[in-house]
Amino acid sequence: MNRPATAAQVAPTYEVPAYIINAKLKQWVAEVAALTQPDRIVWCDGSQEEYDRLCNEMVASGMLIRLNPQKRPDSFLARSDPDDVARMEDRTFVCARSKEDAGPNNNWVAPDEMRATLGKLFRGCMRGRSMYVIPFSMGPLGSHISHIGVELTDSPYVVVSMRIMTRIGRKVLDILGADGYFVPCLHSIGAPLAAGQKDVPWPSNKEHKYIVHFPEDKSIWSFGSGYGGNALLGKKCFALRIASIMAREQGWLAEHMLILGIQPPGGKKHYIAAAFPSACGKTNLAMLIPPAALEGWKVTTIGEDIAWIKPGRDGRLYAINPEAGAFGVAPGTSDETNTNCMAAVKSDTIFTNVALTPDGDVWWEGMTRTPPKELTDWQGRPWTPDSGRLAAHPNSRFTVATTRIPSVDPDWENPDGVPISAFLFGGRRATTVPLVIEAKDWTHGVYLAATMASETTAAITGKVGVVRRDPFAMLPFCGYHFGDYFRHWLKVGSALQHAPRIFSVNWFRRDENGKFLWPGFGENMRVLKWIVERCEGKAGATDTPIGRMPRYEDLEWQGLDKVSRDTYAKLSAIDSKLWREELKDHAELFGKLHSRLPREMTEQREQLERAL
Ligand code: OXD
Ligand code: MN
Repeated sequence: MNRPATAAQVAPTYEVPAYIINAKLKQWVAEVAALTQPDRIVWCDGSQEEYDRLCNEMVASGMLIRLNPQKRPDSFLARSDPDDVARMEDRTFVCARSKEDAGPNNNWVAPDEMRATLGKLFRGCMRGRSMYVIPFSMGPLGSHISHIGVELTDSPYVVVSMRIMTRIGRKVLDILGADGYFVPCLHSIGAPLAAGQKDVPWPSNKEHKYIVHFPEDKSIWSFGSGYGGNALLGKKCFALRIASIMAREQGWLAEHMLILGIQPPGGKKHYIAAAFPSACGKTNLAMLIPPAALEGWKVTTIGEDIAWIKPGRDGRLYAINPEAGAFGVAPGTSDETNTNCMAAVKSDTIFTNVALTPDGDVWWEGMTRTPPKELTDWQGRPWTPDSGRLAAHPNSRFTVATTRIPSVDPDWENPDGVPISAFLFGGRRATTVPLVIEAKDWTHGVYLAATMASETTAAITGKVGVVRRDPFAMLPFCGYHFGDYFRHWLKVGSALQHAPRIFSVNWFRRDENGKFLWPGFGENMRVLKWIVERCEGKAGATDTPIGRMPRYEDLEWQGLDKVSRDTYAKLSAIDSKLWREELKDHAELFGKLHSRLPREMTEQREQLERAL
């Protein structure tokens, strides 16, 4: 399966617990141990005792700081190496046998060449460290929509984070059985320790970083980074890149989408799945609290980053959140912007790269209007408001269990998933794209999603304000050629008797002075209300060249004086000059994908051009 490219080396001696009965797992662990030469192997059982022991060990080694138990019980702060603070798109590879299959949307190296490179890097890379074996389930245990992976890692931070973010341990092995299938996920920080060498708080490899996916054997190899999606391999690597490939083969969808439930007063609950690029407020939308004026409307959270969606026998789509926790961006989160999230992280949370207060609590930009007088910044240096630098890294994070979110939906672990009424696609656009558009039909919806774009933020590329096309918010996450991916979406939709409606949203449109036109946050509920009412056939809309849009009177305005009729006109304006530019950009994207682009996409573009 995941055979190392080096000649066999002497495996360290280690015991295999009697309950490990999966033959492939035993063989793979033996092969990796022979290659990477860890000092010992730890078979993770997923227990609270194991979690506590590892946290205590990391506190002792300096990798974690225990926060003040009075202020932030059972919570920790990790400070990563300043070179290891985010996903690294330029170090992420999809090594399909054919470059064309990986598509222009992925970095590609021939699999044999990559195996040779990785074989060398992984040889002896765990010396002086423990190798942890983490069996994990993406999705509720035993659900027909879930899948199992096993991560081998030399980072205890990864183990405790995976325990929050997924379901790990013995219970997963029970489901795996003697011959069950799992996705092998191999991770090393790439920092072996020589005998007597003192460790650093955040070991990683400064020279080499690789996040590699092999689509044909569905394996993941990650080297050199201990941070987030580079290291917690259940998340972006498995649940999106590898799962998107599995989904195409098996007829389902693995998407970069939050899932929320919306219940009108006294009415039936609807579930919506929404795709946004990183740093567009997905966590806030997933945990939204409706404004007082929309009394009786309830919003519940199923997931805030990833959705696995399968067609049900009744011709509808059903979604699960494959994760069990959130790895969310901290800066900007406050009691004003996301009360539910602030409540979730009150305890039992691992923070990474936020600032530390003198009394052992955490702080980040935007948490309070006035910053504390003094702090220790994310790099452990003294900080005051006039230091002239950020106290928390812009991509600093909290890792917290979904069960801690006050708005969690009672069905969040329903093994059958929840039925999806609508898909939302949104980016961060200062101009051009209206507040909300409803697609005319599924194919038009696929076109809207395929051509979506967003202005980048520091958390994504380090560059701010550059518009980049990010089809389906999957640009960094689709494990194969985007042309094939669009075709897969068209095929899934055409087989559904009750396809969800598709909408495009943009919370970020600005006026001529650069001021946001839409208040966002809880007020987004007004758009969600319209969407739910459209699904129920209740709300009105008008046809425009780019899709259906609410007229002013179709939205609920009570309690929102700051958006006047004029402002709404700006929010929904279609500027044909800007749209002609936009269409040129669509053509450019399609040009890059032309070898596999479904004909329907070009036809949609031509129709739009004519209509405009
Ligand atoms: C994330 C991302 O961390 O999309 O969820 O970057
Ligand atoms: Mn994400």
